Amino acid sequence: MSPPISRRISWAYILVVALLAVTGTMQMPIASRYRIVAVPGLGWLGDFWLTHRLHYLGAALLLALVSYLATRWVLEWRRDHALTAFGLARAGLVAALIATGAVRVLKNLPNVSFSPEPIMLVDWAHLGLAFLLGLLALLRLGAKASCVRPR
Ligand code: HEM
Repeated sequence: MSPPISRRISWAYILVVALLAVTGTMQMPIASRYRIVAVPGLGWLGDFWLTHRLHYLGAALLLALVSYLATRWVLEWRRDHALTAFGLARAGLVAALIATGAVRVLKNLPNVSFSPEPIMLVDWAHLGLAFLLGLLALLRLGAKASCVRPR
């Protein structure tokens, strides 16, 4: 049976996660320190507020996409399309990224304060989960490539 997710949706996911990965990495901030801003066309990566807002925009788009996909999976696709191990791992990582990202959004609100140790754990978890999502994408590409047999 053909996969229910269209190419358009797959590309939307790839572009949104790429936006989040780039703008998230620039929150650290590394663009100026490592002279990434000197590369023609990449000067905007040194603008913290711009990348910060773009990360929030990416997060909103990801939430919309995930809500759409989760609703359709529960109501329509679940019976005929079980999640693969990769799909399950990706769903878990994205859910954990959304949860830890939401705590970081709360932390950024002016009237909200958390004690330093737990919030540091959440910050590290968000960064570690982003790294694991990238690693999983590479593993999946590797697994796909090894399944393609030469003619
Ligand atoms: C694929 C999804 C995502 C990736 C790859 C990603 C990646 C990152 C990375 C690498 C950082 C910097 C980590 C650090 O400073 O230690 C970051 C920061 C942050 N992320 Fe995400 N993120 C994702 C999704 C989200 C979502 C869904 C939200 C909100 C619900 C979110 C909210 C935040 C916030 C608030 C920060 C801190 C910005 C600041 O410095 O104030 N992220 N993200």
